Amino acid sequence: MEWIAMFILIIILLIRFTYANNGKTIKLPSPLLKSSISIEEALLLRRSKRFYKDNPLTLQELSQILWASQGISDPDYKFRTCPSAGALYPLEIYVSVLRVDGIESGIYKYNPEKHEIVQIYKSSKREELYEASLKQEWIKRAPVVIIICASFYKTKARYGERGIRYIYIETGHCAQNIYLQCVSLNLGTVAIGAFDDDEIKRILNLPKFEFPTYLMPIGKI
Ligand SMILES: Cc1cc2nc3c(=O)[nH]c(=O)nc-3n(C[C@H](O)[C@H](O)[C@H](O)COP(=O)(O)O)c2cc1C
Repeated sequence: MEWIAMFILIIILLIRFTYANNGKTIKLPSPLLKSSISIEEALLLRRSKRFYKDNPLTLQELSQILWASQGISDPDYKFRTCPSAGALYPLEIYVSVLRVDGIESGIYKYNPEKHEIVQIYKSSKREELYEASLKQEWIKRAPVVIIICASFYKTKARYGERGIRYIYIETGHCAQNIYLQCVSLNLGTVAIGAFDDDEIKRILNLPKFEFPTYLMPIGKI
């Protein structure tokens, strides 16, 4: 009996070891909850920025941006930094990483529950994203591009066609959070609405009912 338990333990450890070594899941540092910039200053200073330094972002900066986009702010009820119709949370956040300190480039998906990112592609697919967003240079060069997507079925299942409206409103909430968080971190971003939906869907191999709603390149300014 004991050796069976030992065998199972070894298998679990082997799986965990392999998983960890693949670099597939990255635990993000906890978000900081204090800033030297007030919300009023952030609103005043928010501007769309399209040109960034080549410097990589830190993992703390990426953590902060992802938390602002969809992070859990109430662990008891799992409410998030963004409001959501019926608290259904249809938004899915992907991040194309070209340069972030300490992690390899690739495309990652944010898991708000665990505040971690899971690598889904080893390539940042930046050239393809650039082509799909009508060759906007800032998509090619930014150290990070956030791709906001939405599971339309989640919200439509409860609200019918009106759910579509809710999805786009929620995307706006999310993007504004990212804008303001970027001001606070002295980073630049711009909301990109001009892109080929089908192409982005193909590049990320999104599930059938999931569609991109916004792209946001981010970098130091
Ligand atoms: C729905 C929407 C779509 C946008 N799409 C793009 C885009 O594809 N490319 C771009 O460079 N800026 C885009 N922008 C940013 C606007 O150009 C920008 O917000 C506007 O010029 C006002 O400047 P400000 O954001 O600095 O106040 C978009 C903004 C919104 C709200």
